[in-house]
Formats: sequence, C-alpha cells, structure tokens
Amino acid sequence: MSVLMHTLHVELGERSYPVYIGRQLLADPALYADCVGAQVVIVSNETVAPLYVDRVRAGLGERQLVTEVVLPDGEQYKTLDTLATVFDRVLAERHNRGTTFVAVGGGVVGDITGFAAACYQRGVDFVQVPTTLLAQVDSSVGGKTGVNHPLGKNMIGAFHQPRAVLIDIDTLQSLPRREFSAGMAEVVKYGLIADEPFYRWLQEHMPKLLAREEAALAEAIERSCATKAAVVAADEREGGLRAILNLGHTFGHAIETAQGYGQWLHGEAVATGMLLALQMSARRGNIDEREVQGLREMLRDMHLPTEAPESMSAEQFIDLMGRDKKVVDGRLRLVLLRGMGDAVVVDDVTEKELAALL
Ligand code: NAD
Ligand code: GLY
Repeated sequence: MSVLMHTLHVELGERSYPVYIGRQLLADPALYADCVGAQVVIVSNETVAPLYVDRVRAGLGERQLVTEVVLPDGEQYKTLDTLATVFDRVLAERHNRGTTFVAVGGGVVGDITGFAAACYQRGVDFVQVPTTLLAQVDSSVGGKTGVNHPLGKNMIGAFHQPRAVLIDIDTLQSLPRREFSAGMAEVVKYGLIADEPFYRWLQEHMPKLLAREEAALAEAIERSCATKAAVVAADEREGGLRAILNLGHTFGHAIETAQGYGQWLHGEAVATGMLLALQMSARRGNIDEREVQGLREMLRDMHLPTEAPESMSAEQFIDLMGRDKKVVDGRLRLVLLRGMGDAVVVDDVTEKELAALL
C-alpha cells in the first residue's frame, strides 16, 4: 500500500504540477492516472532499471504502447549521442504526440529524459520519478533539462516542466552513502538560502537523516521542494531570484573543473563551496563566524569535504570562477548570505577579497 506523506504544487499557471512525496508510490496507479497517456516511454539506466522499473510498470498497468529505454550509467553519457539513441527507439516504435516520457533515475536520467520530451515531436509530456536524493530535492523540480557538450556542462537544453514528480523515499535505501551525502548538501543549501528554521531543524535532526529514517527524510524533502517550488514559481527562467539556488556552486564548479569531472561529486564540491560562501559572508559582517564553524561541523558529520583540494591555488580558483556561466558583463556574480536563511546575488566581490579568502 502506498503512503502519500506530502503533496506540493509548483504553481506555474496552466503548467502547474504536483510533487508527491511518500513511500511505495512507484506502483500506485492513482498517481499516474492524470499525468500519463496511453503511450509511455520509460527511460532509466542500467543501475536503476533492475531495481525500480518493474514497480513503475506495475503502477502504469496495461497501456497501448510501453517502451523501456535503458541508458548506460554515468554523467559521461549525458550527451547528444545518447539523446539520439532515445529518439531512435521511440520513433522506431512509432510513439505519437500523445506519448508520455517517464524518467526513472537520478539527475542524469531526469535531465536527458526531460530534454528528449521537450524535443520529441516539438514537445510531449513527461513525468519525473527521481531516485537519488539530489534529484528528489533539486533536479526533478523546476523544468531545467538538457545534456552536456564537450565544451561545457548542461550547455544544450530547454526549460520543459514535468506534468508530475513522484518522489518515493523508499528508493533512497539503495543509494550509495556518498551519493546520499552529496544530495544532503543540496538539502542544507535550502536552509541556508531561504529557511533558517529549517536549517536549525537540520542541525538537530542530521543523525536521523543520515540513518535514513523515513519521517525525517520525508520532512526534509518536503521542505526542500517547497523552497524550490516557490523560487521556480517566482522566477521560472532565472531572470534573477532563481540564481540563489546556486549558493556554493561557483566555487564548487571551480573545484569540479580543476579536479576533473567525476573526482568530486557535484554535491561534495557544492558543500565546500557553500562553506567558502559563508566564510565570505562572515568576512563581510553579514553572519557570525560561529555559523561558519557550525556548518563546517555539520558537513563533517555528513562525511562531506570541508576543504578545497590542496593542489588548488587561489589564482587557479579565481581563473576558473571567472569562466563560470554566472559571469555577466565581466562581473563575477556570487551568491552570499545577508543573514542565515537569506541569500542574495552580489556582483561586487573583488579579486582581492577572493584572494584573501582562498
Ligand atoms: P546520477 O543521476 O548520476 O545518479 C548518481 C548515481 O546513483 C548513478 O550511478 C545512478 O545510477 C545511481 N542511482 C540512482 N538512483 C539510485 C538508487 N535509488 N539506488 C542506487 N543507485 C542509484 O547523479 P545525480 O546526483 O542524481 O544527478 C546529477 C545530475 O543532475 C548532473 O548531470 C547535474 O547536472 C544534474 N542536475 C540538474 C539539475 C536541474 O535543475 N535539472 C539540478 C541539479 C543537478
Ligand atoms: N539547480 C538550480 C536550478 O534549478 O535553478
């Protein structure tokens, strides 16, 4: 029996959609009734498909046409070539404009599937069934879809909102510890940028979360998705406010690039990046130094790195940060805190300030 613990809505007018959070949701036909048509394309990968696709198939029941596309596992396959293999299958099996793509997996599968749905016959519906913590609290909500290009990550894509997001927290039980911690970094991010009471709650409940206790997990995911939904509803295409979701990301991308993709997980780099952003916020007198120490301790408890790689010099950091997507008109834009639970985008950070920090 499925247990629906929370339902949220991303409010975007006629493109609004529900986010369901609970247990044993994957096999519940009621959740697919309003968002999936007669034809379905299930997209997953070789790790996740054997674990969860049968449950999704059970939930979908008998349909006119069901195609299962199983992709190789890994960020290196988030490419236009992989996208083409999806289209090859879906066209060969003659899916029409009424088909619905269902993404079952982490952020990589979700981003590829969403982009495939955005492009197939100029756009068809899709549903997100995220199975990593990162995908459940971040990538499945908000409609950013796309693939990587050899010259840049996430450079080819589209905004395409899903029809629904089904978050089954049971799937987190099989997630490797490192992936779980990386996702938890994004959860902490929501507390820092927009919800101080949630941040305090996380400090208190981290042991339960790390033990993957269901009630605590459902609460943390609901509060994270609520913030993401509110930010996306206010600024769907990142004209301004949505950029606060990138706390720690500019520092983090520099670390990911310097180390080579795959060495540090994205969430690990973001964790260290958030710590640097808080340090800079403290240096500017916006928050107390004790908050920096508090975050450092929490990240350590979460088995996340709290130091940038020793091999990275301040010059390398500054150079790589200067190449970030967030640079506008030559000015580096950074997300800092004005206070705990209150993020702001600034463009007045000087190289001297960065050099002193790094
Ligand atoms: P991922 O999709 O690579 O998943 C991580 C690993 O966990 C993979 O090996 C995957 O097969 C495995 N896995 C997934 N679910 C599992 C489960 N339940 N049990 C066991 N193993 C499981 O990585 P991710 O961290 O989920 O997502 C990262 C991607 O998301 C990046 O490509 C990033 O660019 C993208 N992203 C997109 C957005 C957005 O708004 N669209 C936001 C953040 C990140
Ligand atoms: N992950 C950042 C965003 O969705 O805008």
